[in-house]
Amino acid sequence: MKKISTSVVLFFAIALIVKGQTDILIPVSTQNTDLIFKVGTDNRLYQAYIGPKLTRAIDNKAFQRPVHLAYVTSGTDNLFEPAIRITHSDGNPSLELHYVSHLTEKPEENVTITHIRLKDPLYPVEVILHFKAFAREDVLEQWVEITHQEKKPVTLYNYATSMLYFDAGKYWLTQFHGDWAEEMKMQENELTSGIKIIDSKLGARAHMYQTPVFFLSLNDKSNENTGELIAGTLGWSGNFQFLFEVDEKNALRIRSGINPFASEYSLQPGQPFITPSFVFTYSAQGKGLASRNLHRWAINYGIMDGGEPRLTLLNNWETTFFNFNEEKLTALLDDTKKMGLDMFLLDDGWFANKYPRKNDMVGLGDWQENKAKLPNGIGYLVKEAEDRSVKFGIWIEPEMVNPKSELYETHPDWILKLPNRPEHYYRNQLVLDLANPQVQDFVFNVADGLLTKYPGIAFFKWDCNRMMTNTYSVYLKDKQSHLYIDYVNGLYKVFARLRQKYPHLPMMLCSGGGGRVDYGAMRYFTEFWASDNTDPLERIYIQWGYSYFFPALAVCNHVTSWGKQSLKFRTDVAMMGKMGFDIPVNEFNEKELAFCQVAVKNYKRLSEVIWRGELYRLISPYEENRAVLMYVDNTCDKAVLFSYTLNSRYGETFNNVRLKGLDPAKTYAVNEINIFPGIRSIFPTKNVYSGDYLMKVGLNLTSFQPLTSSVIEITAE
Ligand code: GLA
Repeated sequence: MKKISTSVVLFFAIALIVKGQTDILIPVSTQNTDLIFKVGTDNRLYQAYIGPKLTRAIDNKAFQRPVHLAYVTSGTDNLFEPAIRITHSDGNPSLELHYVSHLTEKPEENVTITHIRLKDPLYPVEVILHFKAFAREDVLEQWVEITHQEKKPVTLYNYATSMLYFDAGKYWLTQFHGDWAEEMKMQENELTSGIKIIDSKLGARAHMYQTPVFFLSLNDKSNENTGELIAGTLGWSGNFQFLFEVDEKNALRIRSGINPFASEYSLQPGQPFITPSFVFTYSAQGKGLASRNLHRWAINYGIMDGGEPRLTLLNNWETTFFNFNEEKLTALLDDTKKMGLDMFLLDDGWFANKYPRKNDMVGLGDWQENKAKLPNGIGYLVKEAEDRSVKFGIWIEPEMVNPKSELYETHPDWILKLPNRPEHYYRNQLVLDLANPQVQDFVFNVADGLLTKYPGIAFFKWDCNRMMTNTYSVYLKDKQSHLYIDYVNGLYKVFARLRQKYPHLPMMLCSGGGGRVDYGAMRYFTEFWASDNTDPLERIYIQWGYSYFFPALAVCNHVTSWGKQSLKFRTDVAMMGKMGFDIPVNEFNEKELAFCQVAVKNYKRLSEVIWRGELYRLISPYEENRAVLMYVDNTCDKAVLFSYTLNSRYGETFNNVRLKGLDPAKTYAVNEINIFPGIRSIFPTKNVYSGDYLMKVGLNLTSFQPLTSSVIEITAE
């Protein structure tokens, strides 16, 4: 949830309550989009318009009869899903919100923040709608603050972040769902009359089945380059809900926010309830533009250090699992160096002594080095890494506990579990109660303790391997319905404390793969682990899915031994995001090693384009037996194209791929890279084409051989 600036508080404190003012228009605008609110004759606030930017100034008489209430209340005359529903301290279940005032700030040239203050005429309950407009990125962020000055607490039942309306002939919803090792599966369906909900009730690892992202296309289905749509996502690492309601007039309302499920919130007088942010972009040119808008926003504002480099790495998880010792790890440090990678990442299994972490059934919670595996401690490994000029990163999962651990024995009251029912395990573990400030301190100290003792630690992989079940917080006593919300806010407090002390330490967000991926957490993280499924064929779909909402530099992909495809195919797939390796390098033959070493060099040379270039998805694996995408830098001088043949049928034809995003007037050298030693390139000689040719005629670059790939470097001459 957001913090609000003191200047704004001051403004609202001195703002006069304007009675009976109507025809006030409040535009919230980016370079190409307008969201316009209007105060109605009844003093209520309406959404008057959302869509492409209106090119001429609009006068206040425009939008004569707006009907869509900007933040719909409950208990008076609303007949559909409300944005907010509360019960006052006197038991009255109604709320009415009237416009009071609004204010616009411009903290920087590219950003405008609009605050609209609403108030109940009868009760001292206030709602402030906040909108942050990122002009160049064409992205809007919105959140809401609810406060009251009643004598006793009021109960909040619904507290949406955002309510948006559309009036179109048809509505097409694209959603992303999955499970462990099956993240980001895309589905598109028409919305029909009534309600469709996408949500999570998992508490922790909340995005395991549904990811908090969607596209909503108007009138017709949109594709990559055409169609009118919004792409939306909620920055909340817990239970979320998107509700789509098509009413009797075929209008659509989209309510986004924390899932109200089992989460009525008792709000004390004077205490603000601040919702997480809904982030969205409007595109009249299909999903491709929407993704590029979100990527630019994420790099500039949404994720930690989006402008900084990322570390290539060697991870030991799939190579050793829990079975390692100092000697094995030291050899992996050698391999890290040999491969030309920046960092070695030590995964699960390095800790606990009373119940040594020999598998996932024991030791979670006891964050001291295991003396048998690491007799000289983490410090020794950090030093060994330094001696080889590679960095050292480490895995932690501080929110969780195994019943077989010292932590479980000493602090049973810190664990979420019902007092009168059997414990229910998932991956043999339980969740700690992050609503409890003592637990927040403990979790903070796991990370801070390691960094204090071993300042050479350069990276954390922060895992979270289960959801909540049989959930009860000793700390929350009679406020159990606060748990889902207080847990996430407790977690964010820990992240914020860590960031205060270690503002730039790179951290990978992980949750048994991609079970926790959202922009609420990504403010504190440089990247995320996309999936435990590292089979590159599966991975193409998973990474394709993430690419709609998250930039390549945040999506961690590792080359592993999972999957039967060639090492080249596996490497090319990992290379289209943030590349790493998790594979026994010592088993490589000479050619394999040489190939990987060159691929790492190629990646480092091209990573700026991949991480921060504009993404063009050219051929979707959902539509053909191949997948092709490319990244282009912002000067149109350099591009990298990835092409994968997934399968091929007898007689199948693959048409030329027309490139995008290049400068038609420029001439480009087109070269294949990542060529496996001894294999012939698909572009054996130097190829030079105009940008115009590449974008109109295109290249014939798809092999008919299933599970093959090519990486093409395109350079303006
Ligand atoms: C989760 C992660 C994996 C690995 C294991 C370790 O499953 O997603 O990458 O770190 O935990 O137990």
